[in-house]
This record gives sequence, C-alpha cells and structure tokens, in this order.
Amino acid sequence: MRKLMVVGNWKMNLTSSTASELAVQIRDGSTTNTNTVEVVFCPPAPYLKLVSGLIEGTSIGLGGQDVSGKGPGAFTGETAAEMLLDVGCKWTIIGHSERRTYHNETDSVINQKIKRAIQLGLNVFLCVGEKKEERQNNQTEALLEMQLNGAFTDLETSALERIVIAYEPVWAIGTGLVATNEQAEAAHAYIRSWISTRFGASVAGDMRILYGGSVKADNALGLLSQPNVDGALVGGASLDAKSFNSIIQSAADSSSTK
Ligand code: PGA
Repeated sequence: MRKLMVVGNWKMNLTSSTASELAVQIRDGSTTNTNTVEVVFCPPAPYLKLVSGLIEGTSIGLGGQDVSGKGPGAFTGETAAEMLLDVGCKWTIIGHSERRTYHNETDSVINQKIKRAIQLGLNVFLCVGEKKEERQNNQTEALLEMQLNGAFTDLETSALERIVIAYEPVWAIGTGLVATNEQAEAAHAYIRSWISTRFGASVAGDMRILYGGSVKADNALGLLSQPNVDGALVGGASLDAKSFNSIIQSAADSSSTK
C-alpha cells in the first residue's frame, strides 16, 4: 500500500518567529499516527535550518521549495542540492507552477534539477499541472504528457523510487477553486497510466501522486479518498496549524478506506 503524504509548501511566507511557532504547533498538535501518514514541511530556504532543529527526532521530514540543477559555484541566489542536504532536507519540490511561470523554468531545466537532486540523494516532489485554458480546451492529458516526458527524459527506472509526483492544476493553486474529486482522480489515473506505460506496472503501482491546489480542511477527505490520490501538497492551509493538522487527520482517515 502507498503511504499517504501531507506536504506543507510554506512558499515565501512567515518570519523566523512565526515559522518556529507554526512548526512547533503542527509538531505538537498532530495526534495522527505517523505510520499511516508521512508529513513534510517545505519552509523558505532561510528558515530550513531553524525548522530542521525543531523537528529533529520526529518523523516529520524537511524539504526545499526548489533546488539548482547545477553544482556549487558562481550561481547567485541559487541553492545547491548539497546545501539542502546539509541543513537536514531529505526532499525538494521541483517544477512548481510558480517557478515555471515566474522564473521561466522549462521542462528541460526541471529535468536537469531532478537528475542532480536524485544523484545527490534528495527525494523530489515533481509538480505538474495544466492551466485553465488547457483544461477548457481538453488539453489536460496532452499537457501532462508533455511535462512528464520532459521531466523524465533519460531517467533510470531506479530514480523513480525517489520521486513523488504532485498534480497541481494551475487554476486551482491559491484560488480557492479546487478540482472536483472526479477531476483529480481522472488526472491522477492518467499520470499513473503514463508511468505504467513508460516504466512498468509495478513502478506505477508504487508511485505516490499527491494532489495540490486549494486543499483545505473541509475538502481534503473527499480528495484524499480517491483511489489514485496518495496525499496532498498544501500551500495556503499549511500556514495554519489547525487546518494543516486537520488535513493530516483526513489523510489518516482516508488511508483506512484504501
Ligand atoms: P494552495 O497551494 O494550497 O495555496 O492552493 C498549493 C501549492 O501551490 O502547492
């Protein structure tokens, strides 16, 4: 069975003091059995070390929000995979739609980042998802296929053990417009079938596919109960400990029905 995951993407929010408060409140407030749900925090880079100290010895994992495709060197503003590992990260997000849109990240840049992150031993949340016009024009699957083809170029099958896919329809991110349970399930099933065709049924069966885009305490259970939805990548609601812990609890509740 695939272990469900709930990941908090804190984006460019918080201060050192509110980030600490949030980490501690979630750490101490969640009563969910960690055998059933895996939780990861992705704080802004300057707070990674701080949060790492606060979750040490717990089962909560730590991830970067992005990573460079290059090794350490003259790349102003970038963070190398080595640096994420050095401050306690086991994970990094790659290819978030905000990176694709505001930083012009192409599928080939994303592919390079994935390769390097995996080579260095990080696990990756690879984000894919269509824009509103693409959904309206029935191009969702074509777009997902293109992004998956780009991201997985020249990857060995063994690399997939380190990858979790996050399906995040761009129109649902931060908008309050959540995908319906059926829309999410259909996209996840498509992604899994793509993985199966390319890498085999067993790899596809083990691949965790998270949903992201306006996940909140009150819609999490429906989404997480879908057979191909293996967790949530949460933005806005991850900044509120009560909401985030409630989403973790929904994941635990849905896992007992899977
Ligand atoms: P949201 O963000 O939950 O605020 O929609 C999700 C994400 O961008 O990962």
